[in-house]
Amino acid sequence: MDKVNYNRKRVEKPIPKTETMTLSTLEQKQGKDYPTITSVAKAAGVSKSTVSKVLNRQLGVSSKTRKKVLRVIDQFGYTPSIVAKSLKNKKTKAVGVILPNIINPFFAAMLRGIEDSAIRKGYVVVFCDSDDTREKESLYFQIFENRWVDGIIFSGTATDAEEEAHIRKIQNKGIPVVLVDREIEAYFTNVVMVDNVRAAFEATTYLLDLGHRKIGHIAGPQEIKVFAKRLQGYKEALARCGVSVDLQLVRKGDLSIRSGESAARELMMKKVPVTALFCGNDLMAIGAMKEFQRNGLKIPQDVCLMGFDDIPLASLVSPSLSTVAQPSYQIGTTAIDLLVKSIEERSIDNKVILPTKLILRESTKR
Ligand code: RIB
Repeated sequence: MDKVNYNRKRVEKPIPKTETMTLSTLEQKQGKDYPTITSVAKAAGVSKSTVSKVLNRQLGVSSKTRKKVLRVIDQFGYTPSIVAKSLKNKKTKAVGVILPNIINPFFAAMLRGIEDSAIRKGYVVVFCDSDDTREKESLYFQIFENRWVDGIIFSGTATDAEEEAHIRKIQNKGIPVVLVDREIEAYFTNVVMVDNVRAAFEATTYLLDLGHRKIGHIAGPQEIKVFAKRLQGYKEALARCGVSVDLQLVRKGDLSIRSGESAARELMMKKVPVTALFCGNDLMAIGAMKEFQRNGLKIPQDVCLMGFDDIPLASLVSPSLSTVAQPSYQIGTTAIDLLVKSIEERSIDNKVILPTKLILRESTKR
């Protein structure tokens, strides 16, 4: 037996670069690893219908052939795919879910609501994270078209014509779709969301009622209508109070903590610093809070802060963050209720607007 050479330098295997996954590369991978009824029939030298008869213990197969087919099934470790079985009745009792970013606690809570409600109704969830990219959105729509999920819950990255085309194509195949959080305005279909204009209006009005007039806004990506509407609500509240909108005090963020930090840095460089800041989501508000504090500003004494979502972290940061609470879990459960109704009864489309709530904590206390 060879002596083991412990002195041999361990060759660090390079971490495989994640290849860009396309539908064909994915199906190649899937096809290569999984035996199918075709490969079993070929190996046993019989037809697929003979394999199917053996699987379903039907008559019309000699015991010799039956034994041969069962031996091949065992050798291959073949199990009839639940999807193949369910092709007959075209129901898989699975729902596809495509969300932009599961690391964001807002979407994590929503997914929990979806899954809790789906399993209670006898459905399993096939979750996909689009990473806020159209490429992955498009890949997952193609997969779901071919993989027979019974319905789809979707929150888009851009809420525009491209996404509308994907949804229309899927619906034309008889697969219902429910949009969550981010509607596609020109395209009416099932949607569960909040009233973003009204919620932002109320949050900004609260800061105005505290006496603030230099109120900044860190806005989310404007190609996503949700954030354009929050900016609209911010502007309408200022206008109603006779405060002109100073676009210098409106900074752009990408929903991350880091973008909140850089937006806060930009605002601090303005000649007249803001005394209050309304942010498009909690993560950006927390980033701004940390940046202000790093630069010696006190919250709320020097700058009041208001977020949007009410993720668990909002009550844990110091000072605790005032914010607009979204019913993210309930958005998920409501979406499943609508989707299952559409799957099982072909019901009409609904637009469900759930209420938000202003949560006042230390970051706005005067
Ligand atoms: O924090 C994530 C944001 O993106 C939330 O405000 C939610 O509305 C989603 O659109």
